[in-house]
Amino acid sequence: MSEHAPAFIDLERVICRLSDLEGEAARAFTIGRGDWPLRGLVVRAGHGVHAYLNRCPHAGHPLDLLPGRFLTADGLLILCSSHGALFEKSTGLCVAGPCPGRSLTRVPVEVVSGLVMLGAGVALEGATEPGA
Ligand code: FES
Repeated sequence: MSEHAPAFIDLERVICRLSDLEGEAARAFTIGRGDWPLRGLVVRAGHGVHAYLNRCPHAGHPLDLLPGRFLTADGLLILCSSHGALFEKSTGLCVAGPCPGRSLTRVPVEVVSGLVMLGAGVALEGATEPGA
C-alpha cells in the first residue's frame, strides 16, 4: 500500500473509503468493465490495507458464501466459508484448512486522499487476475 497526493482521482478505480474499513473490517468489491469484472475483497490489517481476488486457492470458490462475510468471528483471519480455509489478512497465506501454504491472489491497491484505489497497473476491462 502506498499513499500519495493525487494529480487527479480516477473514479473507476475507487474501491471504498479508508474509513469504511475501520475496525479492521473487510468488504467485497467489484470493479471494472466487461463480462468479467474484477471481484475482490479489501481488508484492513493494522495500518495496512490489502486486497485479494475473491477466489479461494483450494477449489476456486468465492470466499464469502454469505455475501460480504470474509472474516473469522474474532476478525483476525480471512475465512473461506466453503471448506474453512483460513488466511492471514496481511499476506493472504493459508495457515489452516485444506490448502495450507497456498495464497490468495493479491490485488495491488493504494490509498489516495483517504480512498482505497485499485493500483494503476491493474487492467479494468476483462481483468480476472491482476495484470491480466
Ligand atoms: S474452496 Fe475455499 S476452502 Fe475449499
